Amino acid sequence: MGHIRIEKLSKSYVNKRRLRRDTSDPDKQGAIVSVFDDINLEFEDGEMVCILGPSGCGKSTLLRIMAGFDHATSGRILIDGEETFKTSPDHVFVFQQNGLLPWMTVWQNVELGLRHIVDEVEKADTIQEYIDMVELTGFEHYYPSQLSGGMQRRAELGRALAVNPDVLYMDEPFTGLDYLTHLKIREEVINMHSFIGKTMVMVTHFIDDALIMADRIIVMNDRPAKVIMERKLDFSRPRNIEKEPGLRDLRDEVFMRLGVSYVA
Ligand SMILES: Nc1ncnc2c1ncn2[C@@H]1O[C@H](COP(=O)(O)OP(=O)(O)OP(=O)(O)O)[C@@H](O)[C@H]1O
Ligand SMILES: [Mg+2]
Repeated sequence: MGHIRIEKLSKSYVNKRRLRRDTSDPDKQGAIVSVFDDINLEFEDGEMVCILGPSGCGKSTLLRIMAGFDHATSGRILIDGEETFKTSPDHVFVFQQNGLLPWMTVWQNVELGLRHIVDEVEKADTIQEYIDMVELTGFEHYYPSQLSGGMQRRAELGRALAVNPDVLYMDEPFTGLDYLTHLKIREEVINMHSFIGKTMVMVTHFIDDALIMADRIIVMNDRPAKVIMERKLDFSRPRNIEKEPGLRDLRDEVFMRLGVSYVA
């Protein structure tokens, strides 16, 4: 199960560098930075949702709160009807930067999420299964620094999937990859989503990725961020933006919403 409901979620920080000392009211001190305010969203079980928005609008913060790594200032998040307060092994987060532990091999990194499996043979089979799934067979005992960027990202994906999470959070998972590797790993994520059918929430700056991958897209605006666009994508797969006028129109609309009008 992986149904997520976000109710009236707000997040603000106290920016200590902007403190005015002649008042005790933090609002008047100008020290409160509201990242987002009154966010209400729902994610269906098994849905792939992509979140787009300008840099600094709070996408990573939202994902971190959803994953239980950070706290909201107000509002709540319910996963399968239960409020989340802290990180749960049912929810895995693929980090923006490399999330592999550099002192551990691919095998050991994948093993990290499988500590609950007591039977050693079963555990080894499961580790191998996921390493094979992300096509890293033969690289089990390599350290992250011995792998290419794309291989590292695949190992990270294998590690996340091995946990068999209800919800997979991905924060710009293709950033820093060369173009072809980006496309290949994107394809792998699409295939895995159709294969494992888990809820996936992905933050990306690549509008085309969102249009190719998502069942639904969500666009946020500048701080304090709000959801300014939400659209279900009922296009058949595999998708080709250039051959699908509806997707081309949607791409123009998203660009416009993000304040880039020259493409339309
Ligand atoms: N610990 C913190 N203290 C104060 N402000 C913070 C903190 N963490 C994040 N912020 C602020 O919250 C805002 C949102 O940050 P966040 O990283 O969520 O943005 P983002 O949408 O993921 O940006 P990007 O697309 O560049 O990754 C930023 O303006 C940032 O300065
Ligand atoms: Mg971010």
